[in-house]
Amino acid sequence: MNRFIKGMVAIATAMSLAGCATGNNDSAVSGEFTGTAKGMGDITVTVTLEDSVITSVTADGPDETPDIGGKALEILTEEMTAGKTINVDSISGATVTSDALKEGARAALESAGVNPDDYMTAVEGGEAEDVTMEADVVVIGAGGAGMTAAIVAADAGKDVVILESQAMAGGNSVRSTGGMNAAKTTYQDENEFAEESGVEKTLESAKDYADNETITALAATVQEQWDAYQANPEGYFDSVELMELDTMIGGKGINNPELVATLAENSADAIDWLSSIGADLTSVGAFGGASVKRIHRPVNEEGQTISVGSYIVPILEKTVEDRGVEIVYEATANEILMEDGKAAGVVAEGAAGNTITVNASAVIIATGGFGANNEMVKEQNASLDGYVTTNAPGAQGQGITMATAEGIDAATVDMDQIQLHPTVHVEGANAALITEGLRGDGAILVNQEGKRFTDEVGTRDAVSAAENEQTGGYAWLIVDQAMVDASAVIQGYIDKGYALEGETYEELAEAMETDAATFAETMETWNAAVEAKSDPEFNRTSFAEPLDTAPYYAIKVQPGIHHTMGGLVINTTAEVLNTSNEVIPGLFAAGEVTGGIHGNNRLGGNAVADFIVFGRIAGQSAADYVG
Ligand code: FUM
Repeated sequence: MNRFIKGMVAIATAMSLAGCATGNNDSAVSGEFTGTAKGMGDITVTVTLEDSVITSVTADGPDETPDIGGKALEILTEEMTAGKTINVDSISGATVTSDALKEGARAALESAGVNPDDYMTAVEGGEAEDVTMEADVVVIGAGGAGMTAAIVAADAGKDVVILESQAMAGGNSVRSTGGMNAAKTTYQDENEFAEESGVEKTLESAKDYADNETITALAATVQEQWDAYQANPEGYFDSVELMELDTMIGGKGINNPELVATLAENSADAIDWLSSIGADLTSVGAFGGASVKRIHRPVNEEGQTISVGSYIVPILEKTVEDRGVEIVYEATANEILMEDGKAAGVVAEGAAGNTITVNASAVIIATGGFGANNEMVKEQNASLDGYVTTNAPGAQGQGITMATAEGIDAATVDMDQIQLHPTVHVEGANAALITEGLRGDGAILVNQEGKRFTDEVGTRDAVSAAENEQTGGYAWLIVDQAMVDASAVIQGYIDKGYALEGETYEELAEAMETDAATFAETMETWNAAVEAKSDPEFNRTSFAEPLDTAPYYAIKVQPGIHHTMGGLVINTTAEVLNTSNEVIPGLFAAGEVTGGIHGNNRLGGNAVADFIVFGRIAGQSAADYVG
């Protein structure tokens, strides 16, 4: 039973209790009342009363993250209205917004002159019944990989059901900010870039992997392509092999080369597929570990780049809905059913503790990683105990636990490879990802002493390690007003109060409590490096524009757990393999639940590429298997 239905079950009880609580009708209150509380920004809650009974609750929270906080407001105000109560359960992953909504509703009731405590009848779940459903394909997880797989399987004519453990779709995908890597796309040729490239630097790095046959062969191919391009430069230089090479070097060569090749070869087509469902990623930028500008991002009507996840996820959701695929929310899968050695369905626990069974000929696991499961992280890599996480609460590793259970015996790989993202802003209990795109677009990192300390667009493991060595284990991410004007994402960080501001370098240094002269010198040196397209200090190869348009902004950042590279072993058709390296019939997986693609360090932009490319493959393979 989903949260909304659960609320409906409670209407009768809530109505009678609200009636009792407000006493006799002589003092009954009717009308619309508003209250405001602070979530990510101000949330204004409007409560409509008729004879002191709630008939509607609505909320306006323009600064809440769309599809996370925004979605929570939608779900919870529906529940409040249906249950005639302000006592609803917060939504995990959106607790700041949920709490603010409840506070705003209280304030609205107070302004109506009624006692908010009289509206605290809990929305109780009724007696939920066990449910059995039939489908061709059951997908576990309504994140990017799960919804993509469901769409493709539905397009192949299959009946598909998705089970989602959370109250809303999106998982980690909706939090993804940066963009999607794809090699050799028309958008790369169309974007106008400064003449800068990290190809030479990458070919130099490849020499450190002389004993890795894949990297050596890829480097030889890329060298030939690069020589040919330089002799006759046409369009923008990138290639499938260069994306493979970057991904392999980023992952320190332990990646599965076949999966990497599949990722890169299908990346440009994945951009076109997204376009076909209405998601256009037209702006191309630089990201850590990529030799060239390869990350594809959406833009708003003003031409500013916007977050990829909160743009793509609603489009995937709408497409899923249009294809008639049912998503069962708050259904936590806990068992994969097997019959004669083949996957045969999934058992889940519903919100009210009931059992939901989906019998299906194929099962796709798309539950995401385990970055929100501190115990599992610690178990796999004890050195990561205590780090904050950027992950959605649903990233608990359930898919790995289910598939490795006795009798299924799925194999796992690289489970101890867990990525720290170097730019996470922490405020109280809230850990917010500050996208790597800022560095790709020209931002720098300075330490508390006001000095740069690394190539800011290096791989995440390198930047996080460098940051950990600085005073306090944190850094300041510096941008200027020109960057803010080009990015709705940065403006969002400023609106949420994450940034310090200064009209001059010295004023910003004062706000950061760092030495003004040192910081100003760092900025002047950096601006000169940008003009010269040369960074002798740290050998950065992507520059964008000088940071010389006032005002200037600094966001305090530190490393946080971001991606679990390890997971289930799959082959290039997204079939899950067992510990004897055999295909488990009918069992497929895609997205962060799988391992092997990213080696020991995933490149920014490769997660979205992964979930679209392998989500499509899993959906098609499952449909082909069902026949
Ligand atoms: O920094 C980011 O925007 C993260 C992107 C990613 O992990 O792919």
